[in-house]
Amino acid sequence: MKIPITKPFFDQSEQKACFESIKNRWVSQGPKVEQFEKEVSGYAGAKYGIATTSCTTSLHVALLAMGIKPGDEVIVPSYSFIATANSVLYAGAKPVFAEINEKSYNIEPEKVEEKITEKTRMILPVHQVGLPAEMDKINDIAGKNNLLVLEDAACAIGSEYKGRKIGSINTTCFSFHPRKLITTGEGGMIVTDDKEVEELSRILRSHGASVSDLQRHKSDKVIFEEYPYLGYNYRMTDIQASIGIEQLKKLDLILKKRKELAVRYDDLLGSLSSVVTPFVPDSCRHTFQSYIARLDNASVSRDKLMQKLLEKGIATRRGIMAIHKEPYYVKRFGKISLPVTEEAADSTIVLPLFPEMTEEQQDYVVSNLKEALG
Ligand SMILES: Cc1ncc(COP(=O)(O)O)c(C=O)c1O
Repeated sequence: MKIPITKPFFDQSEQKACFESIKNRWVSQGPKVEQFEKEVSGYAGAKYGIATTSCTTSLHVALLAMGIKPGDEVIVPSYSFIATANSVLYAGAKPVFAEINEKSYNIEPEKVEEKITEKTRMILPVHQVGLPAEMDKINDIAGKNNLLVLEDAACAIGSEYKGRKIGSINTTCFSFHPRKLITTGEGGMIVTDDKEVEELSRILRSHGASVSDLQRHKSDKVIFEEYPYLGYNYRMTDIQASIGIEQLKKLDLILKKRKELAVRYDDLLGSLSSVVTPFVPDSCRHTFQSYIARLDNASVSRDKLMQKLLEKGIATRRGIMAIHKEPYYVKRFGKISLPVTEEAADSTIVLPLFPEMTEEQQDYVVSNLKEALG
């Protein structure tokens, strides 16, 4: 049996939708992107959506649009994909790493407070693999210290924090990479209620131009654009957005299936003393973009376990990286000690989970995992 780490959930509708875009001859950013932006922001409970080529470029644009400048400090977790911190560097600011909570793997609000200096401008929490960070506490700290908050929700479209959808609390960025909940191949989106952030984000993602192609196309007057800012080409295509529109219709079903499989993993693994299953507080809806298990006093190392499972045809991944340990960051910022992050990065493993995973496939993963752990 071969079991991938994940598999996008498609049917004929995605194929038909991108064919329609090709047939219509509008393939770059246009009406489908506009529709996708409205639908995603509507789903997430935000006023505006600004699509880009990835969550990384969404984060970059959002940081700039919110006013982050060279010399500013942005507090981020190190236990995240490298793009979280890289985007801060792209904006010319410094990522300052704060420790995570050992159960949720999300940034620890008390540890954020310790990192605030006179240069701090923003807190950038990550909803790691779809579990919301402690947003009330983070917003409180931000409020008291006059800081901005931008949420990295690459894995968290559909997550809920105390009954509120992620995306409805602060300016937020989503990812549509194939390992995420829904996909457009590559893609991302900023959602926000802030009109100024919206307007500047639209300009920055398209070369800094004051007028978009779609606005020009819809106008019955000749209009010329200006370039008041240094912008980027971070535009999503209409072909991608047409896939995204179909994917969004499936999101609730995808979340339901992921939850069922995660609960089943919990049941099957719960009796193993050397495996710690994911923590989900009652106040949160987890997307289970990934199912992360932690090894605790296991008879084999995490890396050996991954190799043994791979030999049985089962793809796994290390939990999440510790960004501060990556060579580029060590070279640039020196050695930093974050023991909880380092322990989590070394002892966690992502097990296969995708909506079409069968119980037979899941049983195969679990029986091989049990065998490898001895
Ligand atoms: C927390 C987090 N932020 C940002 C990203 C970057 O997303 P993208 O691949 O869409 O740029 C990822 C991707 O894995 C992620 O997990």
